[in-house]
Amino acid sequence: MRSQADENHPDLRAALEHLLAAGGKRVRPTLSSLVGNMLGAPLEKLINLGAAVELLHTATLVHDDLIDGSLLRRGTPTLNARWSPPATVLTGDFLFARAAKLAADTDHLPLMKLFSDTLATIVNGELTQMFTSRGLVNRDNYYKRIYAKTASLFEMTSRAAAMVSPASEDTVEAMRDFGYQIGMAFQIVDDILDFNGDQTTVGKPLGSDLLNGLVTLPAIYFAETNPGDPDVLSLPNGGWTNNENMTRLVEKIRSSSCTKKAMSEAEQHVDRALVRLDEFPPCAERDALENLAKYIVDRKI
Ligand code: IPE
Ligand code: IPE
Ligand code: MG
Ligand code: MG
Repeated sequence: MRSQADENHPDLRAALEHLLAAGGKRVRPTLSSLVGNMLGAPLEKLINLGAAVELLHTATLVHDDLIDGSLLRRGTPTLNARWSPPATVLTGDFLFARAAKLAADTDHLPLMKLFSDTLATIVNGELTQMFTSRGLVNRDNYYKRIYAKTASLFEMTSRAAAMVSPASEDTVEAMRDFGYQIGMAFQIVDDILDFNGDQTTVGKPLGSDLLNGLVTLPAIYFAETNPGDPDVLSLPNGGWTNNENMTRLVEKIRSSSCTKKAMSEAEQHVDRALVRLDEFPPCAERDALENLAKYIVDRKI
């Protein structure tokens, strides 16, 4: 990933260094490396795939933080907190370009197509969220949204790692589903952390989803059990723009059992992912994938 920053404008290089130095959990390249190593993929392809996926993820975050007006990410100021919107957009574009190059370096055409389709799914999901999902209390819409913005990339990552391995169609499908399930769990947990996480630990602004009109799983559970709540009733009519009411609603959700219920739904996805691992003979990578799946619901960051 670092080598993608060479020989460019010094400001761009500094921005990329800043982004890479901030780290992040690197969950997606961990997933591709473990799946690929378990299935015997060539290391070279796994390195290109892991770097491609992580740069694509980073690019979506650079643009997402600009769109959301978020000033903190990975415990450090975002690019948009320090730079102009045009410079931030262009840095994101550059990262997309380098991610595509790295994906092409795998020399695997179906993987390239999958990579490109996934980016289209993510962007389409973000646009749908922006134009038609704000204030919407709808379970089906929620699952579609979290698939598009998060689970699709986990699914692609795990599937692609299997595709560059000497693996059967059934194995590729098992790994696709593994990625899908932990991806759904990952975003549900991200949405729970927005209610009950510790901001310093998580390293990004919390308590902001409802204020942005994003009705996530804990809020949906709350709405389903408290259909007459005035703050809930206000949501479809733009009630999410009212700071005071939303702060009150966040408090009500926090002190309810709704984040717990959402967590048990995330755990069900992890359980489905774990079943997929049963098909493989025991090995260090399988153990690590099991731990990765469990970490996704245990994490505080
Ligand atoms: C953040 O992803 C965006 C979501 C999909 C929730 P991560 O939580 O993986 O972010 P980093 O890379 O670790 O910062
Ligand atoms: C961002 O979604 C994930 C993308 C794929 C763009 P969120 O807006 O929910 O992520 P955070 O909470 O800012 O990390
Ligand atoms: Mg965001
Ligand atoms: Mg979020």
